[in-house]
Amino acid sequence: MQGLYLSILLDLHLTFCMMTTTTPSLGLKGIPRRILNGDTTHKVPYQTHQNHTVFFRPETKDVLYLGGTNLVLKIDVDTNDVEGPCENVIMVIQEFQDSLFVCGTNGQKPQCWKLVHNQSTEIVESYEGTGISPYVYTQNSLSLTVEGDLYAAAPLEHDGSYLQFRRKAGGRTNVWMYEKWVLEPTFVAASWVKRNQDPENEKIYIFFREKNSDNSPEADPWITRVARVCKVDEGGSKRFFQNTWTSFLKARLVCGFPKESLYFNHLRDVYVLHAEDWRDTRVYALFTSSWNATAVCVYSIADIDKLFETSAFKGYEGDIPDPRPGTCVTNSRGLPYTTLNVVKDHSEMSEWIHSSIHPLAPLYVSNYNYTKVVVDQVQAADEHMYNILLLATDTGTIHKCLELDSELFIISETQLSNRSAIQSMILASRKKKLIVGFAEDMFSLDLQPCQKYNSSCAECVLSRDPYCAWTQNGCTSTVVMSDSSASFHRGGIQNIKEQQTSVCTAALEGSQSRRESTPASLDSETVYVMLGVSFYMSCQIDSYHATYTWVHQGHSSSPCQQLGPRCLHLITAMEHGSYGNYKCMSKEQDHTRLVTEYNLTKQPILLASLPSSTLKTYNRCGKRNNAAALVSHVEWVAMSVAFMAIFARL
Ligand SMILES: *[C@@H]1O[C@H](CO)[C@@H](O)[C@H](O)[C@H]1NC(C)=O
Ligand SMILES: *[C@@H]1O[C@H](CO)[C@@H](O)[C@H](O)[C@H]1NC(C)=O
Ligand SMILES: *[C@@H]1O[C@H](CO)[C@@H](O)[C@H](O)[C@H]1NC(C)=O
Ligand SMILES: *[C@@H]1O[C@H](CO)[C@@H](O)[C@H](O)[C@H]1NC(C)=O
Ligand SMILES: *[C@@H]1O[C@H](CO)[C@@H](O)[C@H](O)[C@H]1NC(C)=O
Ligand SMILES: *[C@@H]1O[C@H](CO)[C@@H](O)[C@H](O)[C@H]1NC(C)=O
Ligand SMILES: *[C@@H]1O[C@H](CO)[C@@H](O)[C@H](O)[C@H]1NC(C)=O
Repeated sequence: MQGLYLSILLDLHLTFCMMTTTTPSLGLKGIPRRILNGDTTHKVPYQTHQNHTVFFRPETKDVLYLGGTNLVLKIDVDTNDVEGPCENVIMVIQEFQDSLFVCGTNGQKPQCWKLVHNQSTEIVESYEGTGISPYVYTQNSLSLTVEGDLYAAAPLEHDGSYLQFRRKAGGRTNVWMYEKWVLEPTFVAASWVKRNQDPENEKIYIFFREKNSDNSPEADPWITRVARVCKVDEGGSKRFFQNTWTSFLKARLVCGFPKESLYFNHLRDVYVLHAEDWRDTRVYALFTSSWNATAVCVYSIADIDKLFETSAFKGYEGDIPDPRPGTCVTNSRGLPYTTLNVVKDHSEMSEWIHSSIHPLAPLYVSNYNYTKVVVDQVQAADEHMYNILLLATDTGTIHKCLELDSELFIISETQLSNRSAIQSMILASRKKKLIVGFAEDMFSLDLQPCQKYNSSCAECVLSRDPYCAWTQNGCTSTVVMSDSSASFHRGGIQNIKEQQTSVCTAALEGSQSRRESTPASLDSETVYVMLGVSFYMSCQIDSYHATYTWVHQGHSSSPCQQLGPRCLHLITAMEHGSYGNYKCMSKEQDHTRLVTEYNLTKQPILLASLPSSTLKTYNRCGKRNNAAALVSHVEWVAMSVAFMAIFARL
């Protein structure tokens, strides 16, 4: 007999695991507050499966280009798409020399095309694309245009070797890397940081992983780096270092817990959040660790630059030559050998770059397997600017996270596709949309889903979503769209910093004509139940940050049992004392809310003679109970509780 009971319990356990993998568990830290379905997203299906997609958005226009296999789509951020020609996997789309420059694998013969978009898209020129596009889409590549120059990293050989970051085309000289500078690199991102007052000193930052030259068994096999080169670098003289970067320096980018020597070494993605003053530019870097956790670290460009200007050069003992290696000079061909020799042989900095915003720990550590990060800035109703991190998981969901001083608050999770991993992601900040590419389709996710928090002022405030605020029109977006621009809409009730709903009542006292804030979802049911039967009540979970309790007859309360997106109260066998009123209450911050209410009444004896309308929900398996699918599981729960009781007595 014992064996049977155990197997029942095991079965039950399995069912629970399967049911709860897609919904977070209440009471855990670092989970999304709300789970939103993707009904406010706009979906554009592709005609064919795409193994690789790439997005490009010109800085000045509200259009978006998508490159896939045999296709380049020009997409109006709101809806339309226009198809153009090509015959391969498009890897690079850049604006270059006043036209659209597109490169692809072209059947393992990388090729680039200049497209002109007048009446229809036309190829006006084509070029050899080795070093700009890889041979196959699974190989690493990267591209960037800076003032009409094209920078790229792509392998020079079919097997993926000779991967380098170069200046490849444009007005300035083509410049290459010295091959000993990096070991089996994977380039993740490159970014040009503009300096309005000091363009000669502008640098291009390159974020990558490479093989660790430290082969000791405890060392991580891979290491994350940031390197930088000067925009004005034209390489060395004819005699030494011709067409080679004279300003290349690299440093280790550290993310983790330095006190415990616990590091996240595998760089996954980088988003550079540019600022008016270059010193305020921030780098958001997403890492994974050898133990499969993910972390986000934030660095400031000013700190990165300072390290390159002050650190010793690894392995170099001599006096630091003048000009200091790595300094941007207008005539790099005239640099002295002493400077160039340090760059050539000691391009690595001795010091490490630590996260500057949160020095002792990452901003965020998680067990979610995040693969991509994008950061938007939004002005909330309190007129402060907030940073919003949009993190993509490997299972097709997007987490929208609010960056607070030293933590991340996960506002919501949106499931876009359960079919495949996210391939590419780009922010259309002015339109407040996130464009997400999958193998089968593309989604445009609305970053201001304020109607989801429209049930009450409290819900709008608890959402902690800086894109939204409570006004007389309900929960509405703080950014107002017009045809040409987005403008900030002042006012509205919100409390991003403290998440206290008391701001709602305070505002209510000021104006008298507010509607009653009874939530629409509240339903009170009178239910007839027989003595001795098992019974359950169910309550919808809205916020995974709230605690839910069941209150019986206004006093005894019990925590709820979570089953997916619902909270249950289980009664193994109805007794006389089990009847009466039950309320499911949610509490979050300073807000307590009645979610649902039941009135359990003893079932009259003559069941059949009662009009069916009064027997509202006796049959819990009936159609009107949308939790019907749960019933079998709930019966299992009830049974197992009973069995456990028997088991305990044995
Ligand atoms: C693209 O993906 C499909 C399905 O995953 C696969 O069958 C096909 O071989 C892939 N194509 C290439 C060129 O790798
Ligand atoms: C498009 O522009 C290109 C280059 O400016 C020109 O050669 C071509 O004739 C134009 N095509 C059309 C259809 O206007
Ligand atoms: C990390 O994930 C990989 C791939 O899913 C798996 O093979 C490996 O065992 C995991 N490592 C740990 C420490 O969980
Ligand atoms: C995380 O996602 C990446 C990309 O899809 C995948 O390669 C990796 O195996 C995943 N890691 C774990 C632990 O599942
Ligand atoms: C994705 O999820 C939806 C609803 O949750 C389901 O109907 C659909 O079958 C799922 N698709 C796949 C491929 O699993
Ligand atoms: C939000 O609620 C208000 C009433 O408070 C209503 O006028 C408005 O239409 C609602 N908005 C949405 C998007 O449902
Ligand atoms: C519960 O049932 C009792 C008795 O029928 C009734 O007096 C009471 O108003 C009901 N309460 C609710 C909330 O339906």
